Amino acid sequence: MDVLHRTAELRSALSGRPPPAFVPTMGNLHTGHLALVRQAREAAAARGAPVVASIFVNRLQFAPHEDFDSYPRTLQRDCELLAEAGCDLVYAPDETELYPEPQDVLVQPPAALAGVLEGAFRPGFFTGVCTVVTKLFGAVRPQLAVFGKKDYQQLMVIRHMTRQLSLGVEILAGETARDVDGLALSSRNGYLSPMERAEAPALQAELRRIAQALAEAPQADAARLAALEQQAMATLRARGWAPDYVAIRRQRDLAVPQDGDARVVLAAARLGRTRLIDNLELDRP
Ligand code: PAF
Repeated sequence: MDVLHRTAELRSALSGRPPPAFVPTMGNLHTGHLALVRQAREAAAARGAPVVASIFVNRLQFAPHEDFDSYPRTLQRDCELLAEAGCDLVYAPDETELYPEPQDVLVQPPAALAGVLEGAFRPGFFTGVCTVVTKLFGAVRPQLAVFGKKDYQQLMVIRHMTRQLSLGVEILAGETARDVDGLALSSRNGYLSPMERAEAPALQAELRRIAQALAEAPQADAARLAALEQQAMATLRARGWAPDYVAIRRQRDLAVPQDGDARVVLAAARLGRTRLIDNLELDRP
């Protein structure tokens, strides 16, 4: 497996080969990322296409008070894990390679999709994500790219952007990888203290409680959905969390669900200094 830091090297390594399957990451990889790489590997196999993963901590998607500087950079270990997972090429540009000049052309997704939930609490986040993913797609020129459902809203935003900008990249969704106690794997779980780590599965447990309540009594108007959301937030607060939102939305565009829509519940909450997000699909798509 080659690790390439320059876009020109990447382009020459890929020339004459079928367009790759691509997994963009910010590194500090865990089992969830590696499952996305394996999914890319399977999707690419029939075409004999290579699998490319990128590792780039994208300053544009961090607010000034967020953890850009302290975000773990673990390139060597990441590359060992990627090689084991069947990745063919790692693209690991530095900032001067990807942003050689101030990035004043930005890709801004629509507020209805990207200004709510994560977008409301992290203004500019999805503009940073869409801008870097567009640049990465330009460098890698993949046939398909795999994004995890753990970042559910990100997946929806990227799908929308790719379609609207006719980028010609097929977007595949990867299932969320979880620890045995239900905690969604995340690069930021490493920030949790042992006590916080023991408490962290409560976020997914609250989402499961909502799923169970709706499975037992499926009729749910807007008032009942709001009550379920509020109850989950109150429980989390009582356990010492600071929830940003628990929200039941329509899966395909995260709008407020209408009767018959396939729904997903999404949540974000801080536990100590760590902000965790998670979600659970409540209906079959
Ligand atoms: O999900 C992530 O790790 C990042 O948001 C992404 C898609 C690699 C863009 O920086």
